[in-house]
Amino acid sequence: MGLLDGKKALITGARKGIGRGIALTLANEGADVGINDIVDDDVSHRAVELIAKRNAKGTFHAGDVSTVAGINSVIDSFLNEHGQIDILVNNAIFPDQSRPLFDTDEVFWDRMMDLSLKGYFFGSQRAAREMIAQKTGGRIICLASVHAYTAIENWTAYGTAKAGLRRMVKGFATDLRGHNITANCIAPGAISNALPEGNDDVIDGPPHDPSRFTEHLPSAKGGLPSDIANAVLYLSSELGQYVNGETILVDGGMIASKKMRD
Ligand SMILES: NC(=O)c1ccc[n+]([C@@H]2O[C@H](COP(=O)([O-])OP(=O)(O)OC[C@H]3O[C@@H](n4cnc5c(N)ncnc54)[C@H](O)[C@@H]3O)[C@@H](O)[C@H]2O)c1
Repeated sequence: MGLLDGKKALITGARKGIGRGIALTLANEGADVGINDIVDDDVSHRAVELIAKRNAKGTFHAGDVSTVAGINSVIDSFLNEHGQIDILVNNAIFPDQSRPLFDTDEVFWDRMMDLSLKGYFFGSQRAAREMIAQKTGGRIICLASVHAYTAIENWTAYGTAKAGLRRMVKGFATDLRGHNITANCIAPGAISNALPEGNDDVIDGPPHDPSRFTEHLPSAKGGLPSDIANAVLYLSSELGQYVNGETILVDGGMIASKKMRD
C-alpha cells in the first residue's frame, strides 16, 4: 500500500531536477505520473521509463506551460491518458533566473511572469476546474523559493514571481472552499538539480559542495531533490490534508538564520 495509490499526478518541468525527484517519489507511493517538459529528449523519456519501473503508469506531455494554450494542451493530453487529475505540481522554470536590476528588461520580466505566475495560475485554475467536476478533491502544489522571503542581490524578478505564488495559493485555498482541494507552496533553499550519474535509477544526483554552506546555513549542506519531493509527498497525501494556503520552507534553515537575513 502506498500513500498515493490510485492517484493521478501531473508535474510540470519534470524531466530533470526537483520535478524528476517529485515524479519518482510520487510513483514510489503508488501514483500514476505525467511528466511535462518543454524539452522532449532522451532524458525526458528516461524519467518516464523510471516511473514505469515503479509499477506506475508514466506518461510524457511535451509543451510550454508559460502560455494558457500550452497549459491547456498539456492538461488535455494528461487527461486523455489518465482520465482524471488528482495532483498538480507546478514546478517548471527556465535556466538562468538571476538578472541584475538594470539588466531586467521587459522581455525577461514577461518571460519570468508568464512561466512562474501566469502559467502556475492558469494551470492551477484548470486543474481545480477538473477536480471540482470529478468531485474527487485534489492537491495543487507550487514550487516557490527562499527568494519569496528575502532579497538576494540580482534576483528581484524571480523573487517577485515566487512571492506572488505565496499569495496565490492563499487565494486558491480560499476560493476553492468546500471542494476538498488544497493549494500550497513548497519553498526550497539551495537544491542540487543535477541528474544522477548515467541518469541512474535513483532520485538524487550529486549534492552541492557542502563547503559552500558551512558558513551561513544551519544544516551546513545543500539540499537534494528528495528533500523537496518528500515535502510534496506530505502535501499530496492524506498526511497533509489539513494544510491549506500555506508555504512550507524546505531550506536547511536558510531563512531562519540571522546570517542569511543580514
Ligand atoms: N534548485 C534550486 O535550488 C531551487 C531553489 C528554489 C526554488 N526552486 C524551484 O524549484 C523548481 C524546480 O527547479 P529545478 O532547479 O529543479 O529546475 P531545473 O532547471 O532542474 O528543471 C526545470 C525544468 O523545467 C523545464 N521548463 C523550462 N521552461 C519550461 C516551460 N515553459 N514549460 C515546461 N517546462 C519548462 C526545463 O526544461 C527543465 O527540465 C522551480 O520552480 C524553481 O524555481 C529551485
